[in-house]
Amino acid sequence: MTILQLPSSMNCRLWQVDLDAAPAPQAVAALSEAEWDRARRFVFKRDRSRFIAAHAALRETLSSQCGSPASTLEFALGPFGKPALIEHGELRFNLSHSESLALIAVSDDAEVGVDIELLRPMPDAEALAETYFSAAERRALAALPQEARGRAFLCCWTRKEACLKATGMGLSVDTRSFEVGVSPEAREVQIDAADGCARLALSSFHDVQGAQCAVARVLACGPAQAACRPLVDNEMYA
Ligand SMILES: CC(C)(COP(=O)(O)OP(=O)(O)OC[C@H]1O[C@@H](n2cnc3c(N)ncnc32)[C@H](O)[C@@H]1OP(=O)(O)O)[C@@H](O)C(=O)NCCC(=O)NCCS
Repeated sequence: MTILQLPSSMNCRLWQVDLDAAPAPQAVAALSEAEWDRARRFVFKRDRSRFIAAHAALRETLSSQCGSPASTLEFALGPFGKPALIEHGELRFNLSHSESLALIAVSDDAEVGVDIELLRPMPDAEALAETYFSAAERRALAALPQEARGRAFLCCWTRKEACLKATGMGLSVDTRSFEVGVSPEAREVQIDAADGCARLALSSFHDVQGAQCAVARVLACGPAQAACRPLVDNEMYA
């Protein structure tokens, strides 16, 4: 596992995991029956191995952060499926994987979301942008030279995903309804959705070779926001 550096304003820790490197046997032994059930459902052996490696790494990382043995950690799912620790709930985390790469983000005081996408040709970028990006983001993408659009598309995509994953709201939010931009600069993001509102700090980074990544941290969330657990030492707002 490699520790990645983030701007200190993000106030979270980030690890990169190579899912094709065999995890230590004791890390694999820590997986729960529920995780083994999920692992067994993969048709292809490589996908199964990567899932096992990701969850072994997640348990090891969380264990190193909270001090409890990896095998004793228990998880609950939020209303839209975001996992959280049952004990040590003050430790917020998020996992993302893309092929052989995974990222794990951990924070002590706020919900975090992380997303990684392997860089690849994006012939359908324009059609996907129509469905998922705001009008301003689509215009910004179209204004770029053709050769820059694929990366900019994945930049915007990972930024949206990181924000949705931080709030835990996932697909319940219309991704066209909030702005993250198509370029990688750090910024604040405001989400106003039927399930609640949230203000987030967002940062993109390129430290992982061959991938586009983003991390988001919830700064505040509204009381109607069911998916997002109350924050420690942070303002709440309506
Ligand atoms: C899970 C979800 C939040 C992200 O899925 P994804 O990008 O395919 O997958 P990632 O690898 O980044 O993240 C998966 C991990 O996120 C975590 N997760 C699951 N549900 C989550 C949720 N609601 N919120 C945050 N994290 C979640 C889990 O740890 C999961 O790992 P696991 O499946 O190994 O247990 C997905 O349900 C989702 O809502 N995707 C939005 C898709 C979309 O419309 N994107 C448009 C962007 S413009």
